[in-house]
Amino acid sequence: MKLPLVPLLAVILSCSIGDATPLVYDTEGHELMSNSSYYILPVEEGGTGGGLKMSYEWKRCNFFVAQARGKAEDGVAVRITPPGASVYDPIFNPVAVHLSTDVTITFDVVTVCVESMYWHISDKSPLSTTSNPRQHVAVGKDEDADMPFPPSPDMLFSIERYDGAVKGYKLVSCNSTGPYENLGLHAFKGKNWLTTSASALVVVFKKGHRYA
Ligand SMILES: *[C@@H]1O[C@H](CO)[C@@H](O)[C@H](O)[C@H]1NC(C)=O
Ligand SMILES: *[C@@H]1O[C@H](CO)[C@@H](O)[C@H](O)[C@H]1NC(C)=O
Repeated sequence: MKLPLVPLLAVILSCSIGDATPLVYDTEGHELMSNSSYYILPVEEGGTGGGLKMSYEWKRCNFFVAQARGKAEDGVAVRITPPGASVYDPIFNPVAVHLSTDVTITFDVVTVCVESMYWHISDKSPLSTTSNPRQHVAVGKDEDADMPFPPSPDMLFSIERYDGAVKGYKLVSCNSTGPYENLGLHAFKGKNWLTTSASALVVVFKKGHRYA
């Protein structure tokens, strides 16, 4: 008997599958909330590095996402929010973060830059002029460009459960070019960069400290 593959494919092409999905939990077992910040840490014991952070300012206020070098380093905390929320909503109307739904991710840091440090996938790549099959996760836009609202698809990600040899979560890009793509680490010029990747980086979320 032939199975109807096409309808199944159509279902997995969308990142956002609605609200009735399970929640995401931090390392203390609490729900991930839009009013808190979290370090994104690799789950694997004996891994070669720490949490995710912004790295390599290739242009003023434009960075790429990379892994902190030291195993003990947490990196830079992020805020994870549903894309419909206004800037103040996450704080005044906190919501829990659901699995498999679109979210925006922004580094929770104070910078001199006009724009917040929103993650987006980019065709640019750090320290390289040759074309690259991977897309890097970048932060920061052109200083005079407005942050699109609602966020453009390149700014949308989702969190999926990862249930392999190690247990945790993986991050996927929800850009509209096709099925979602895993985010993983790509070693290049002495750093592990966060890129679209065949093998997902398995992560956990550790609650961070609010910037006062
Ligand atoms: C976030 O919101 C929840 C629910 O309203 C609240 O219990 C919690 O204290 C808030 N956390 C922070 C860091 O403001
Ligand atoms: C994101 O999707 C848009 C629309 O399909 C496409 O033009 C753009 O190249 C994609 N960006 C990346 C970095 O893949």
